[in-house]
Amino acid sequence: ANNWEYIKTEVAGEKKNVAVITLNRPKALNALCNGLMKELSTALQGFGKDSSIAAIVLTGSEKAFAAGADIKEMAPNTYSQCIQGNFLNDWTEVARTQKPIIAAVNGYALGGGNELAMMCDIIYAGEKAKFGQPEIALGTIPGAGGTQRLARAVGKSNAMEICLTGNMVGAQQAQQMGLVSKVFPPDQLLAEAIKTAEKIGTHSNLIIQLCKEAVNTAYETTLQEGLKFERRTFHATFSTADRKEGMQAFVEKRPAQFKNE
Ligand code: CAA
Repeated sequence: ANNWEYIKTEVAGEKKNVAVITLNRPKALNALCNGLMKELSTALQGFGKDSSIAAIVLTGSEKAFAAGADIKEMAPNTYSQCIQGNFLNDWTEVARTQKPIIAAVNGYALGGGNELAMMCDIIYAGEKAKFGQPEIALGTIPGAGGTQRLARAVGKSNAMEICLTGNMVGAQQAQQMGLVSKVFPPDQLLAEAIKTAEKIGTHSNLIIQLCKEAVNTAYETTLQEGLKFERRTFHATFSTADRKEGMQAFVEKRPAQFKNE
């Protein structure tokens, strides 16, 4: 096992095909310091390359998923340092992950914490989770997707209210807005996220990757271009052994045996 300082990693699920990454910096409510984000990127790259892993779950503690970028660490930054170091650019590893990634959010997901959750593919929340973009109270604005991914997820009026007031929204409200797909009692959240990751893992990893890419394209392009990408990707599945097997298995009334080919 790795000797992480700010995270914990383990493998879960009956088939041991679900990677669980737990943010583990309790003293600072999992504030996302450089060291933590480096470890998270490294862990994601490792699980990304590990063919035994079908899906990833990202979680924090019961009190905090993550309370945002590390305010104490970034306080001394100057404008020129931000520009020349392209501050926060290295956070994108999460959004680049090709495998499905589920955020299991208990407690605070604030600022960069909410942005990190929104880089994931699915967000599940514990009943006491709190989401927000409080940057405005610090004299700054969200810098890792809080104005962009949030507006796409919850619409303009909700996104404006969250970003301009800095107010937090609870799990139920976040679900009503469409930020979160399901809400669970806190002690069941992680198990439910793993269950969903396992369900995803019963399908072809190869086709799952194409499907994730297609859904993500909806956020990157026009409807016409997106539909074209989807249609061609759909056609491309007909070149795979797994598509053949999936349809053959249906016809023969047996479970499919996918080979990720
Ligand atoms: N950065 C650095 N340290 C943080 C932190 C953060 N974002 N959030 C919490 N901590 C630290 C606190 O400083 C405190 O440390 P000390 O014990 O050494 O004082 C410890 O974590 C516990 O926090 P609190 O005592 O504040 O805990 P609380 O239960 O009273 O309050 C909270 C919880 C409401 C989440 C509060 O900690 C808070 O408001 N945190 C800051 C949230 C925030 O503004 N996030 C946005 C950051 S900016 C950003 O993310 C930019 C971007 O877009 C990428």
